[in-house]
Amino acid sequence: MKKIAILTSGGDAPGMNAALRSIVLSCQYHSLQTVGFFHGYNGLIDDEYTLLDADTVNDTLHLGGTVLKSARCKQMLTEEGVLQAVNTLRKHSINTLIVIGGDGSFRGLQSIKQHWDGQVIGLPGTIDNDLYGCDTTIGFATAVHTATQAIDKIRDTANAFDRVFIVEVMGRHSGHIAFNVGLATGAESILSFENYTCDTQHAILSELISNISTQQKTKSTSYLIVIAENLWSGGAQALKNELLEQGNIDSAVCVLGHIQRGGSPIPEDRLLGTQLGIQAVNAALAGQDQIMIGYKEGKLAFTPLESAVTQSKPVSAQLLDAHQQQLTCYLT
Ligand code: F6P
Repeated sequence: MKKIAILTSGGDAPGMNAALRSIVLSCQYHSLQTVGFFHGYNGLIDDEYTLLDADTVNDTLHLGGTVLKSARCKQMLTEEGVLQAVNTLRKHSINTLIVIGGDGSFRGLQSIKQHWDGQVIGLPGTIDNDLYGCDTTIGFATAVHTATQAIDKIRDTANAFDRVFIVEVMGRHSGHIAFNVGLATGAESILSFENYTCDTQHAILSELISNISTQQKTKSTSYLIVIAENLWSGGAQALKNELLEQGNIDSAVCVLGHIQRGGSPIPEDRLLGTQLGIQAVNAALAGQDQIMIGYKEGKLAFTPLESAVTQSKPVSAQLLDAHQQQLTCYLT
């Protein structure tokens, strides 16, 4: 009987449990055994596991986080750690390892593959949506939803005081969350990697000061800046200080942080996780190897892990244009 191992790795994402549940149910349907390893790759290295079946994943579909726990595993960057993980796979006679995670997690799969002849399959699970080869990653839609709801609330209080607000969103080094959330909340400014470089920070600050001043001279209203984390040198607080010092503009800062990663997955992520879980098991049965499975332009797509970790997925040019167009309207 084929034996499938599963783990969740890297930043947890809402919908990981839906994917896990779907893999387990699909394995049971096809009479395959499933083993879950805890705490990402650490569980493989330390042989910390549980056998999984329909009962163990019952009532988990709606849960945020991951019932298998997650971790970023430094040991997987060493040959010793990788060999230890491979030992565990051999010890349990695993045929296929399915990892739900982001690019770092897929690099772990590639390392394992160098020493192991089983199949390795990746499912895209990260709120950042920064994986090439899929339209959206598991967790992204929920993170955008959560951040949108939070910012709508911030907008209410900002409106009450005609206040400038700087809201920092996650995304690591990509602007998918920033642009989607910025547009969904009607942010006057969206600052992200796609419309910013270190060299232009000074010019962007001047433009921001000019835009805020223009808007506040003509209208009695709030001004919302959505900014991607890891973008502005010194972070959102530094931007606040610079607006005050150089433009005499007072503002409030809110860093949304990990609130964006938690919470019950919205239906879109439950469905994505469920569909990808079934496809992962189909791919395992079909003997597919070293691939990430996702939906690309709405169709099922199998992307080599190598491409998934090396190629980038830019934010849609249409979103960038939409923001530019709307900003022009706010200021006239
Ligand atoms: O990759 C998901 C993510 O939430 C990023 O958006 C963020 O930069 C990072 O993880 C935060 O990681 P940690 O929880 O380890 O601080």
